[in-house]
Amino acid sequence: MNTIYKRRSIRKYTSEPVSEKVLKEIIKAGMNAPSAGNQQPWHFIIINERKLLDEITKIHPYSQMLHEAQVAVLVCGDLDFEKHKGYWVQDCSAATENMLLEIVDQGLGGVWLGVYPRKDRVEGIRKLLGVPENVIPFSLVAIGYPAEKKEPKNEFREERIKYNYWR
Ligand SMILES: Cc1cc2nc3c(=O)[nH]c(=O)nc-3n(C[C@H](O)[C@H](O)[C@H](O)COP(=O)(O)O)c2cc1C
Repeated sequence: MNTIYKRRSIRKYTSEPVSEKVLKEIIKAGMNAPSAGNQQPWHFIIINERKLLDEITKIHPYSQMLHEAQVAVLVCGDLDFEKHKGYWVQDCSAATENMLLEIVDQGLGGVWLGVYPRKDRVEGIRKLLGVPENVIPFSLVAIGYPAEKKEPKNEFREERIKYNYWR
């Protein structure tokens, strides 16, 4: 079945480790996302130290699954790479979604944890990981082999579609 519909937020994981090779494939998918003027303003921080994953749960109130996750990837936007001002958020969103789809194709489970624009999360994670000022922690993707199963999505809503005009 199409990866898009199979993708669900998976928040329970087994203790099976995620290999470096698979992580690189996931990040490669992120790096192949579309970006404004192909500016690719992103960096990816692989977080696999248990101490750091546990620390993030104290900064981010909805990240308790990180206690179980084998690894998380922090997607960051680098303002110095911006050719088209303000688009970094959309670029990093596209990268995050691409990663989530690759996670499904790799037989893993993941969930998008929103960081930006919540100032406390951005600054807390910046301090914890030593992220420089021109780089903004944008999203965290928790990753692990799934220990829960969810039904594919079916969210089509005809009433949200309009033709040509708002009417
Ligand atoms: C911008 C954004 C921020 C999110 N932040 C969190 C979060 O902090 N914690 C969490 O458990 N899920 C988070 N999610 C996942 C959503 O809760 C989830 O995508 C939504 O409920 C739909 O479920 P599904 O992903 O299984 O389709 C976030 C998703 C997005 C797109």
